[in-house]
Formats: sequence, structure tokens, C-alpha cells
Amino acid sequence: MPKLTITIDGPAGSGKSSVAKRVASLLGYSYLDSGAMYRALALKALERRVALNDGTRLEALAKETHIELKAPTPELEAAGAKNRAFLDGREVTTEIRTAEVSQAASLLATIAGVRRVLVAEQQRAGAGGGVVMEGRDIGTVVFPRAELKIFLDASPEVRAERRWKEHQEKGEAFTLAEVLDEVRERDRRDRERKVSPLVRAADAVVVDNTAMGIEETARLIVMLANERQKEEIAAAGKKV
Ligand code: DC
Repeated sequence: MPKLTITIDGPAGSGKSSVAKRVASLLGYSYLDSGAMYRALALKALERRVALNDGTRLEALAKETHIELKAPTPELEAAGAKNRAFLDGREVTTEIRTAEVSQAASLLATIAGVRRVLVAEQQRAGAGGGVVMEGRDIGTVVFPRAELKIFLDASPEVRAERRWKEHQEKGEAFTLAEVLDEVRERDRRDRERKVSPLVRAADAVVVDNTAMGIEETARLIVMLANERQKEEIAAAGKKV
């Protein structure tokens, strides 16, 4: 069976991570969270007090930084972790999940030079297929020739509620209204930025999971992947 490259893009709280992880596990593919790369670099910028609008310094910082993503340990997996993230060899898996890093990553992701460096890293990490990569521009910029592209969406209210529950589980006291404001602000920045804005690739399948659970959404995508694989095999047969 040919191994596909599956891209899952969508706004914050659309369920990308849980769904992408589950799809990868059902298909036996690897899972890569591109947002973790922006977050790890944002953490380094915050630690070094580099201004988040200083494009030249941030691009230089991206070039001299080594970010690695690895599959989570079974314990981290059970606790809902995504990839393990390493920043210049130091594990930062939990540090990159704070609200401060979320905001910083969203600012840093507007800088073209930073994106160039991280996109090249993501292309290297996903080369060879058999991968489910999630982000904002994976189907449009990172893997424009991916065999299956999904654009995952849900209403802002439902996405904010999911994020709010995550904060609650971590003992962070935000109100639902604050989280909804943050979701709207990040949506605006992700969708309106000049470089690689969050847009649906023309050939992406839109999946709105406002009223769907993770398992249902993941199984729908696996069905689409199976269909796509059959099409790939049929197309290869015709060429022979
Ligand atoms: O998916 P996430 O919330 O962990 O992503 C963190 C930030 O990085 C988010 O504001 C959008 C940005 N990002 C991006 O611009 N492109 C990607 N491929 C992934 C994330």
C-alpha cells in the first residue's frame, strides 16, 4: 500500500491535534505537530527577550536553533501530550503550552523569514510520507502536493469551550469569555497575516466538527484516506 501524506489544517481549537494523532495511530503513520516548532522558537525568543516584532533577529534566531519533534512516551500520550518537543536538545514539551507562549508563537508566525526556516524543517521531517502533519499552512505551503488535505473547522464558541476545558484541566483560571476573546484574536491574526495565512487549500476537504467527536472525525478522515489510497493504486495501475 502506498503511504500517504495527510495534512490537517485549521484554526485553534478545531480539534486538529487530537484528530491528527488518532488518524496517525489508526493508520500506523507518524504524527507531526508543526505548531510545536513555532511554540518552541517563541519560548526561546521570550527567554532571550528578543522583541516579537524584530523580524531580522527572529529569523537569525530561527536559523541558529535546533528544534526536534519526537513521538510521546506512553505516559505523556496518556496525559494527552502531542509530540515531545526539544529546543536545542532541552525538552520543552510542557513549557510551550502556556498562554504566554501561544500568544508569542502567533506573533512570531507572522514573520516571513521565520516561516521559511521552519517550513524547510517541516518538509524535512515529513519527507517520505506515511505522515499526518497538522498546522495552518501544511496543505497550502509545506506539502502542496499531499495526497489528502483536510481543513478542520468548528464554531468559535465550541473551539473556545474546548480550549477552556484544557486550561481548567491544567488548573489555569481563565473565564470562558476570556478564552473566546483569545481564540477570536488568534483567528484574526492567523487568517489575516500576509504570509501563509490560514486558508483552505482549494483541493482540501472541509470537515466541520462542531457537532462531532474526535473518534467520529478521525474515522471519517481514515475513510477518506482509504479511498485516496485506492485511487492512487488505480492511477499507478493505469500508468503501467
Ligand atoms: O497549533 P498551535 O496553536 O500550537 O500553533 C501555535 C501558533 O503557531 C499559532 O498561533 C499559529 C502558528 N502556526 C502557524 O502559523 N503555522 C503552522 N503550520 C502551525 C502553527
